[in-house]
Amino acid sequence: MASETRDPALLQEPSVFILENGEMYRNQTEVKMSQIVLPCHANHCGELSAGQLLKWMDSTACLSAERHAGCSCITASVDDIHFETTIGIGQVVNITAKVNRAFTSSMEVGISVSCEDLFSDRQWKVCHAFATFVARRTEAGKVQLKQVIPHTQAEQMEYSLAAERRRMRLIHAEIINDLLSSCCSQTVSECLDYQDAVSAERTRVESVELVLPPHANHQVSTFGGQIMAWMENVATISASRLCNAHPTLQSIDMFHFRGPSHIGDRLVLKAIVNNAFKKSMEVGVCAEAYQGGEPLRHINTAFMTFEVLDNDRKPCTLPRIRPEPVDGKRRFQEAIARKKIRLDRKYIISCNQSEVPLSVPWDPSNQMYLSYNNVSALKMLAARTNWVLTSEKNKVSLYTLEENQVLCFKVETHVAVAAEQVFLLLSDLRRRKAWDHHYQECEVITDSNEDDTIYRVFTPSVTKGGKGQDFILLASRRCPCDSGDPYLIALRSVTLPAYPPTEDYNRGEVLCAGFSIWEEENSFTKISYYNRATPGVLPYISTDIAGLSSSFYRTFASCSAFLENNKDSLASLPTSMLRETSKRS
Ligand code: COA
Repeated sequence: MASETRDPALLQEPSVFILENGEMYRNQTEVKMSQIVLPCHANHCGELSAGQLLKWMDSTACLSAERHAGCSCITASVDDIHFETTIGIGQVVNITAKVNRAFTSSMEVGISVSCEDLFSDRQWKVCHAFATFVARRTEAGKVQLKQVIPHTQAEQMEYSLAAERRRMRLIHAEIINDLLSSCCSQTVSECLDYQDAVSAERTRVESVELVLPPHANHQVSTFGGQIMAWMENVATISASRLCNAHPTLQSIDMFHFRGPSHIGDRLVLKAIVNNAFKKSMEVGVCAEAYQGGEPLRHINTAFMTFEVLDNDRKPCTLPRIRPEPVDGKRRFQEAIARKKIRLDRKYIISCNQSEVPLSVPWDPSNQMYLSYNNVSALKMLAARTNWVLTSEKNKVSLYTLEENQVLCFKVETHVAVAAEQVFLLLSDLRRRKAWDHHYQECEVITDSNEDDTIYRVFTPSVTKGGKGQDFILLASRRCPCDSGDPYLIALRSVTLPAYPPTEDYNRGEVLCAGFSIWEEENSFTKISYYNRATPGVLPYISTDIAGLSSSFYRTFASCSAFLENNKDSLASLPTSMLRETSKRS
C-alpha cells in the first residue's frame, strides 16, 4: 500500500542539515532525478514500465558513485528490490541516490524512489534499493577510493549497515546455492497431474538486442540499467504468456553483473516461468552477450516475481504450470526454495528491527538473515546520538535512551588490552560467568559457522526463592571491515524446537544486546555494552538506572580485571576463532 510520508528523501526537499558545530551540511554525493512519466515510458496499461524505472535508478546511482569516485564507475550488483506501488502516466518519479560507504574500489549507493501526484500534492514511497558500483580499473590497476565520512546520525547508520550488507552480498550466491541443494524436497509429480496446467514451454521467450551507442556510457560499456530493462521486458512477456493478462512486477532478487558488455555486442535475453504459486509467479531471466563468432558470455541471471492485479489491485489466482522434464523440474523446485528464502529475507531483513518477533525460529535457511538482523540491530542502536549519561563511577559510564516506550542502556568503559584480544575474550559467552554474576551457566548449543554461535544461558532469580531464567541466544561476531568499524558481538534471542522452555526456568528474551569494541590510541580499547531492555532483563538493571545502586560498575570493573588478567591467553577460545585470528596476523 502507498504510505504517505514527509521523509525529506522522498519529498525532494533540499537535504541540508545543521551540524552540531552550527555548520550547514549537504551530502556531496547526493544526486536527485525527477521525471514526469510520459506515454513513451509507460506500458499499454498506462503504468510506468519497471524497466524504464530501473534505467533511471541506475543512472542516478551511477552519477552519485562517480561524484564520489571522481572517475567512471560500473554497476556490479543491485540488491533485492520490492516495488510497493505502480506509477501512472502524468505522475512524477523522484529518485535520490547517495553513496553510503566506499570500500576499496566498490561503493554502496542507497537509492530511494517516490512518486508524486502533482494535482493532489501527495507523495508515496515506491521502493528503496542498494546498488554496488565499482570504479573502473585504470592502467595502474584497481582504484583505491577515498572513504566516506558520515556526518549525520542517519548517514552513520547507513555507513555502519553498509558493511553488513556487503558481507551478505558477497556470500549471497554461495548461500543460495547451498540452500537450493538442501531445500528441494517437494515432488514435482503432483503438479504434472493438473489437466489445466500451462506448459512452461509456452512461456519461453528468447529475444536479441544490438547494443548501440545510446545504450552505453562514454566508455562504451552497456549501462547496467539498460540490461535490467531488457531483462524485465522479456520477463514480462513470459509472465503474460502464463496468465494471458497484464502482469505487474512485484520484486526482483539480487542482480549481479558477472561481466561487462560493450557497444556492438548482441545481447541474447531468455526468460521462462519457473513456477506459478497461487497468487504470484517466478520468472527466471538470463542475459548473454556475443560478438561475431565468439562464444556467449554470461552477463546476468535474475529472478523476478510477478502478480496479476484485479480492478481493486488485489492479486488474482494464477493458472498452474507444468514444468518440462529435467531442467524444468529443477527450476520448478528451486523456485519453491527461493520463495521460502525470499519470505525469510523480507520478513527478517526488511521490516524494522523492533517488528521482528523475538520468537523467530532459527533454521539453516534463515540463519544468514537472522545473523544480519542481529548485527544490524546492534549497529542501529550504537549509531544513536541521543544517549543520556545517567550515572558514572570510576570511568565506567551508564547511559540510557528512552524512545517510544522502549528503554535502552549502554555501559561504557576503557581497558588497557588490545581490541582484538578483548573481542576474542568477550566473544566466548562461556567465559562471561568469570566476570558477570548474572551469568550462572552457559553452554554452546550449536556453532553454526565461524561468525555465529547459539548459546543457552542461565541467570539467577531476581527474587528470593524464585525461578531462574534461561535464554537461547544467537551471538554474531564481526571483525572490522576497515578502520571505520569496531569489533562487534551482537546478541539476540532465537527459538530452537529442540530447546523449548522448561518448567524449571522462566524463558527470558533478549531483543538486542551486545558489545562494540573500538581500538583507541596506545593499546587502549573502548568497550560499549548495549541492551534494549526487555521485561526479562530490566530487573537486573532497573535499580542502577534509578540511581539506587551501581552494580553495573562492579560488573564492568570485574570485566576489566578479567580482560587484563587474560590479555595473553588464547588457549580456551573456539577453534574457529583461533583460525580467524591466525589468518589475520
Ligand atoms: N556485489 C557487490 N560487489 C561485488 C560483487 C557483487 N556481486 N562482486 C564483486 N564485487 C566487488 C568486490 O567486492 C570488489 O570490491 P572492493 O574493491 O571494494 O573490495 C570489487 O567488486 C572488485 O572486485 P574484484 O575482485 O577486483 O573484481 P572482479 O573480478 O570480482 O570483478 C566486476 C567485479 C564488478 C568489476 C566484474 O564482475 C564486472 O566487470 N562486472 C560487469 C560490470 C558491468 O559492466 N556492469 C554494467 C552492466 S554490463
